Amino acid sequence: MWGGRFARGPAAIMEKINASIGFDKRLADQDIAGSKAHAAMLAKQGIITQADADAIRDGLDRVKEEIDAGAFTFKVELEDIHMNVEARLAELIGEPAKRLHTGRSRNDQVATDFKLWVRDALDRLDAGLTALQTALIDLAEQNTDTVMPGFTHLQAAQPVSFGHHLLAYVEMFGRDRGRMRDARARLNECPLGSAALAGTPYPIDRFMTAEALGFNRPTANSLDAVSDRDFALEYLAAASICATHLSRFAEEIVIWCSAQFRFIRLSDAYTTGSSIMPQKKNPDAAELVRAKAGRVIGTLTGLLVVMKGLPLAYSKDMQEDKEPVFETDDTLALCIAAAEGMVRDMQPNKPAMREAADRGFLNATDLADWLVRELDMPFREAHHVTGRAVKAAEDRRVGLTDLSLAELQAIEPRITEAVYPALSIETSLDSRRSFGGASPIRVKEAVKAARERFL
Ligand code: ARG
Repeated sequence: MWGGRFARGPAAIMEKINASIGFDKRLADQDIAGSKAHAAMLAKQGIITQADADAIRDGLDRVKEEIDAGAFTFKVELEDIHMNVEARLAELIGEPAKRLHTGRSRNDQVATDFKLWVRDALDRLDAGLTALQTALIDLAEQNTDTVMPGFTHLQAAQPVSFGHHLLAYVEMFGRDRGRMRDARARLNECPLGSAALAGTPYPIDRFMTAEALGFNRPTANSLDAVSDRDFALEYLAAASICATHLSRFAEEIVIWCSAQFRFIRLSDAYTTGSSIMPQKKNPDAAELVRAKAGRVIGTLTGLLVVMKGLPLAYSKDMQEDKEPVFETDDTLALCIAAAEGMVRDMQPNKPAMREAADRGFLNATDLADWLVRELDMPFREAHHVTGRAVKAAEDRRVGLTDLSLAELQAIEPRITEAVYPALSIETSLDSRRSFGGASPIRVKEAVKAARERFL
């Protein structure tokens, strides 16, 4: 491609370090779409003939067919996807192919191709996350009044409903989708026609190519256009946060499956056995979803480090942008699908959750609230009185409602029989009716609202 100035070819090791075809072949569709838009624009502007543009278009369609059919030979000596496609086009149509690269450079070409790819990837992730939210909402709907202990510090805190807990993740994945939508909107400016770094003397129409490729507008600054990889970083940042959410959810699945919790069961479809311990049913898929966040976060860190300190405009360093994005895209799609599969597979063990809600004094706050409400006690004092009641129950290894009225009155004489109904776990859960709260009444509404907001 630059034979004019070069007397000899590259060293083998140079070819190896320089080539990106091994991975950027994944940009083939985007590269061909970009070239077709560019050629049509060149013809419309009278920069090449319509006949040449038609030949280029038909030739590119044939190249795409070859690639789709697996009949295309990618060549390392042609370095990257852009030169592989162009060289094959020249083989197929001859002379007109050599006019395609007028008024552009691989620098704006790769930025355009990669933006198109990331845009598609964001759309795929949105679909995957929507499917995961659907599974979570479906399960939440069946469990709006399934009582389970809610935790802080992984210590039993107050009763919640299992549906409420699942809907928390629906919110997280909803924000992930929002971040991806934001990133998509910001990336949607077309770099094509920025050429190597400074624009081009040809009378190109960048608005035409931008529109043909579904961008909102052309990028405003040629130097920025060829050196910007914010869209890849934003993609990886949004993906990292999403992977972190998946990891937290996976960790809860691992905990819930354990013999100590038994809140859910996963079928054989999402578990493995142990080669030595016959009783084992290990939640490997959940563990791997938990772990893969590390890989995804690594790609964000990796690309940030590649980009930091790079002067304007393009540097070859930026060829290192693609593998992290591809790796994260593969990883995240797999994790989202596995999470969805596990949600659809999991069987809540309602008796175990309900039983766990009886342990750990989940109704302690309700006793304090009763003292405030019925005896007009200041909350700090009520907290103290309740603490003494918990201590008394703990000493006897029973729950708060197992204390006799005499025992309670020994702590606070004004307590009456009426306190007992207020301390039932169901009453406690039902009472948390503030907007966004765990009461089944609110959760039923939240299920409906979630369907409207997200699906
Ligand atoms: N394969 C290159 C990349 O991915 C394409 C751009 C090459 N540009 C250049 N001036 N060498 O970044």
